[in-house]
Amino acid sequence: MKKITIIGTGYVGLVSGAGLADFGNDVTCLDINLERIKILLEGKIPFFEPGLSELVERNVDAKRLHFSTDFSRSINDSEVIFIAVGTPMNSSGISDISAVKKVAIDIAQNISSSKVVAIKSTVPIGTCVELESLINSKLKKNVNVHVVSNPEFLREGAAVRDFLIPDRVVIGSSSKIPIDIMKEVYRPLFLNETPQIITNLPTAETIKYASNSFLAVKISFINEIANLCDEIGADVHVVARAMGLDGRISPKFLHPGPGFGGSCFPKDTEALINVGKQNNVDLKVVKAASDSNKIQIKKIIQKLDKHIKNYNNKKIGILGLAFKANTDDVRESKSIDIIKYLISNQAEIAAYDPAAIENMRNIFPNVNYKYTIDEVVKNASAILIMTDWNEFRGLDLQKAAKIMKEKIIVDARNLLSREDLFENNFIFEGVGRPFLKNYD
Ligand code: UDX
Ligand code: UDX
Repeated sequence: MKKITIIGTGYVGLVSGAGLADFGNDVTCLDINLERIKILLEGKIPFFEPGLSELVERNVDAKRLHFSTDFSRSINDSEVIFIAVGTPMNSSGISDISAVKKVAIDIAQNISSSKVVAIKSTVPIGTCVELESLINSKLKKNVNVHVVSNPEFLREGAAVRDFLIPDRVVIGSSSKIPIDIMKEVYRPLFLNETPQIITNLPTAETIKYASNSFLAVKISFINEIANLCDEIGADVHVVARAMGLDGRISPKFLHPGPGFGGSCFPKDTEALINVGKQNNVDLKVVKAASDSNKIQIKKIIQKLDKHIKNYNNKKIGILGLAFKANTDDVRESKSIDIIKYLISNQAEIAAYDPAAIENMRNIFPNVNYKYTIDEVVKNASAILIMTDWNEFRGLDLQKAAKIMKEKIIVDARNLLSREDLFENNFIFEGVGRPFLKNYD
């Protein structure tokens, strides 16, 4: 058991903090956002993540998980300090690591004993080495600080499971002492033989970017195949299934859609391309995946344009605002592009999401948000399905056919049954699933 402080209680920091407590460690979570700490102290969770509330509650009750605003005391009481603050993409597409650096300096100036500083935030390759010298140059006492790279592979919506039962744990460091400490931190996982990758700092950082970029490549690849399927009358689902049956390919991350969003893939692909540039390596494949992703949403818009010639004052329903199902996160959500397009065309928008309305309201306060699917569907001239929430699969098409003004559906996630759409005489567009009567 180790005493740990986690700085940053976002999707990554809070899940990691609660998960590390569940492994038996004594964990204190800090955040610059005092309102967030207050919410946590009241026993509430500041965002939607399935299973997180139970995990937090269990560990708070067991007195292994604490929330605090006392930075200096908490870090001094801990042997390991995790940095999990956000690293958003700036306007030139580069990760902004200023918060990570600021926290690193604060740590250096406040510690009076040796520490391991573990970097959970996704930082450009080379940052951990830079942080190690930055911290050592700002120390006020004669102590040792080892920086460790410990990247996260948490999918929002499945983050609790991904933390507790990971495919692998990656630990990067320039010396042995912190590695032994980190092995203690993750002791239950090491005991149950979760694969562990112990390596140097740049390799650990690269693993994270290479993994996310590879998944992004997979998605862009299948999106392009879907676009081709649209033109030639092939069914991308059958293609993806058959591809996935080849163990070398695997069926995962082969679902076509409006393009990948979220706080990681768009940013991480750009960051990797940038590291390539700085080192005179042209990462053409990643660049193509990123470029392809930027135009995929235009394909969805074209599908809508095909059937709606004039948007002026027409009610267009959007089902799904989150960048994917099972999260309230709208960062880089493709629904943002759709809303912008519809606003610029003077459409009357009605939008619903089971979890992300409040976050989208912060970006578009004037959109007309609805709290049921029916309210979106009623009198709509078209519906766009943007997020793969399960509840949209159950859309009652018979009812929708009766209450919509025009029976047009663009299903950017291929959730609906084409048979049912046919039966109810809808005009329908999917992604890589042409609406042909003889599709069997
Ligand atoms: C994470 C990673 O940290 C990021 O690098 C990765 O690329 C995406 O996932 P996430 O947990 O999703 O970020 O970020 P966010 O939900 O924005 O949470 C960050 C938290 O850190 C916020 O609660 C914020 O208040 C806090 N923070 C930020 C600090 O405590 N101190 C700071 O100086 C800055
Ligand atoms: C990702 C990584 O998967 C995770 O390991 C961690 O590094 C953080 O970043 P996350 O961004 O939460 O997780 O979601 P993920 O499930 O990877 O989806 C990212 C985007 O790709 C979403 O917009 C999703 O809808 C899209 N996607 C995913 C597809 O369009 N098709 C797929 O087959 C899979």
